[in-house]
Amino acid sequence: MRIYQAETYQAMSRRAANIISAQVIYKPDCVLGLATGGTPVGTYQQLVEWFQKGDLSFAEVRSVNLDEYLGLSPHHEQSYRYFMQTNLFDHIDIKPENTHVLNGLAKDPAVECAAYNKLIRDLGGIDLQLLGMGRNGHIAFNEPGDDFGLETHLVSLTENTIEANARFFASRDEVPRHALSMGIKNIMNARRILIVVNGEEKAEAVYQAFCGPVTKQVPASVLQLHPNVTLVGDKAALHKLAEAGETVCG
Ligand code: PGA
Repeated sequence: MRIYQAETYQAMSRRAANIISAQVIYKPDCVLGLATGGTPVGTYQQLVEWFQKGDLSFAEVRSVNLDEYLGLSPHHEQSYRYFMQTNLFDHIDIKPENTHVLNGLAKDPAVECAAYNKLIRDLGGIDLQLLGMGRNGHIAFNEPGDDFGLETHLVSLTENTIEANARFFASRDEVPRHALSMGIKNIMNARRILIVVNGEEKAEAVYQAFCGPVTKQVPASVLQLHPNVTLVGDKAALHKLAEAGETVCG
């Protein structure tokens, strides 16, 4: 695993965007696995800036997103489809038909999940998967205790995650209780993984995930078993790793 520590959120975002842009330049029709949440917003802003300067094109890129709330329409401001449109897709030249986000209004979640697994396989698998990490160590909506062998599935959000995501909704009661999410197996099948973390509130989860044992109680710890992981974080999120003696690049 490579660990890059950046001084600031902006530098962290630039470093993550560098890695994504390198993937796109190396393989213009690559499959990017994309993430939502507060952490990758700066990464997307940086990619948009480079696109607008003419340094980067997403014309051939295909994308698959990690997850979507069940019950939210793609036009709902808190849906992850809406997040992706407003933070990235609407500002770059990716073809709309090449962007894939799970359908939160799917009548039959099991059918939607199975179709998504097939879609990922039909695309040839994910070249680079971008991830954030929850304060409880979750990745996508794979919560502590979830089986590492799962592919895309219906999940019940934990109280911890509902609490963390309530900041985006008018009230806690409005946070959906269920979501559709890629499973750990889909994520581990990606050829390369880029995980971004910032802020002191992630420091303990980062430490547990990468210095502790691989355990279902800390879903991100499974990434220790992946051969090609890059962790990019700011000082606040990475300090416990550095203190534990992990080799951190500047
Ligand atoms: P955040 O979420 O980037 O908003 O902190 C990360 C996650 O929950 O995966």
